[in-house]
Amino acid sequence: MSRLAVFVSGGGSNLQALIDSDVKNSIALVVSDRPAFGLERAQKAGIETVELSRKELGKSGLSEAIEKVMAEHKIDLIVLAGYLSIFTEEFSARWRGKMINIHPALLPKFGGKGMYGHHVHEAVLAADESESGCTVHFLGEGVDNGEIIMQAKVPVVEGDTPETLAARVLEEEHKLLPKAVLSVLKG
Ligand code: GAR
Repeated sequence: MSRLAVFVSGGGSNLQALIDSDVKNSIALVVSDRPAFGLERAQKAGIETVELSRKELGKSGLSEAIEKVMAEHKIDLIVLAGYLSIFTEEFSARWRGKMINIHPALLPKFGGKGMYGHHVHEAVLAADESESGCTVHFLGEGVDNGEIIMQAKVPVVEGDTPETLAARVLEEEHKLLPKAVLSVLKG
């Protein structure tokens, strides 16, 4: 059975969706790069947590520290559920095909550096798109690229703000992420 580590940087509602699904039995560890409410969610569910500070360790120090923790906990699959730090190229290369990310837009549109959280929804509205959604994908060489596993769409409606659109997308994320991770776990 796969031993999964879920990475969070914030509220962790996507982590909660995983905890509330059949994925839970495979979650061995929750990792954050800053103080995050997601860690409390994990602890409440009886899952081990590790907090490593991006601020103190820097980009390469953080990737090195994570690599060590992954080895200690014998992790073989990583799920990035609202995780905001970017890994070194070495780390990404080593985990290619074994690292899954959720992004709050229909990739390949509205991805890349700086495209996270409300920035994504602001860009979708500014581009006058008629639909948005979320994407679960394997992490490729860059930010927000790599093989798409599953996507879900939502409409953009008249009068949408980044907040209303984000809420509609997030609701779909909570359904899509467990479904996509389970499909990977089942091979
Ligand atoms: C989610 O919308 C996720 O797709 C997004 O951050 C939010 C985290 O929410 N991720 C990115 O923007 C990554 N580029 P959560 O902490 O409540 O799960």
